[in-house]
Amino acid sequence: MSNFFQPTFGNRPEQIVGRDGEINAFISGLKEPIGARERCTLFLGQRGMGKTALLLEIADRAAAAGFIVARVTAFEGMPSAIIEQIQLNGSRYFKDEKKSLSGVTVGAMGFSFGLAFSEAANQQYGFRAKMSLLCERLEEKKKGVLILIDEVQTSAAMREVATAYQELVGDHRNIAIGMAGLPYAVSGVLNDEVLTFLNRACKVNLGSISIASIRAYFEHAFRSMNISCPEPILDLAAEKSRGLPYFMQLLGYYLTLYAKDTSAIDKETLKKAESSAIRDLEDNVFKPTLAPLSDNDRFFLMAMARCKDPITTNELQEQLGSQASSLQPYRKRLLDTGIIEAPRRGELVFAVPYLREYLLDEEESGFHVRR
Ligand SMILES: Nc1ncnc2c1ncn2[C@@H]1O[C@H](COP(=O)(O)OP(=O)(O)OP(=O)(O)O)[C@@H](O)[C@H]1O
Ligand SMILES: [Mg+2]
Repeated sequence: MSNFFQPTFGNRPEQIVGRDGEINAFISGLKEPIGARERCTLFLGQRGMGKTALLLEIADRAAAAGFIVARVTAFEGMPSAIIEQIQLNGSRYFKDEKKSLSGVTVGAMGFSFGLAFSEAANQQYGFRAKMSLLCERLEEKKKGVLILIDEVQTSAAMREVATAYQELVGDHRNIAIGMAGLPYAVSGVLNDEVLTFLNRACKVNLGSISIASIRAYFEHAFRSMNISCPEPILDLAAEKSRGLPYFMQLLGYYLTLYAKDTSAIDKETLKKAESSAIRDLEDNVFKPTLAPLSDNDRFFLMAMARCKDPITTNELQEQLGSQASSLQPYRKRLLDTGIIEAPRRGELVFAVPYLREYLLDEEESGFHVRR
């Protein structure tokens, strides 16, 4: 029996749970006129909230809606990767256009044939001009172009692509863009002087998914694997996922693994699966999330962890003691990074499930914040 759950970063889950609203909104935005705000969307989410999974789903749905999709990560070679992906994914619409018998190729301006650039175009043109040619050529086949950028961050490549997008929209090319990144990285992009125009983009916060949708997913998964799971344990398992898609995958994975011999899940199985899942969460989410933070950030987080829920400004100030006023900038910084949220005035919460418990455990086991 293969495991229905796959807690691997960047993979495609069996089914996307609890993100219909976000996906449908983006796909229907593609039907809006060129340059509409919805056609330039930024998805913000903490590690494991499912940014990559969402982009994978959007790529397929957009392709079915008549878009040629380039899905890339914001690394150095991003501009040429985008061109290659468009050529690769769009070429099947040009299969019938053969080379002429004389060996001289037939093609539109700038192309040898299909979506392959002529040698001259290839050498002379940069990203923006090539994109313009590709969009124009694809418009002949009634196709739009969608660029999906994962792991968004400020870089020369990001500036080049985003600026070209803005110019192509100005030229009325049928192009749209979806970007996903950690809130921390996205706020860097929005503050970049070349990229400030992205502040006008739609911003979609990928927060927790609903416990009800997680429960339904567990029920469906265990049933398809012939594993019995009593209703109260299903309820408990869904609650323990706390809306984090990655934790849902981890918990489902270990529940399935530990139920292998008996094909049944009981309280004991859940307890074992939960501790294995938490261990993986710590290694793969908490450690990388905390790594870029300063000692003052951590000090602030520790003070928050010691407060009761909901964390009120008054109680937090007591915990911070004499440092309270000097640590105000860290509150803002942590809010910007998306690790904490302020659901109401005067209240703070941890945006990443289980982080509070992790911080308290670390403190108990002798971890000290250097100040
Ligand atoms: N909506 C969802 N439904 C079901 N599984 C999901 C969903 N979103 C994400 N997952 C699963 O959770 C795990 C983490 O998702 P993903 O890799 O997309 O996270 P991410 O936000 O891109 O994280 P990172 O910031 O580290 O790149 C993967 O195993 C993925 O398949
Ligand atoms: Mg990712």
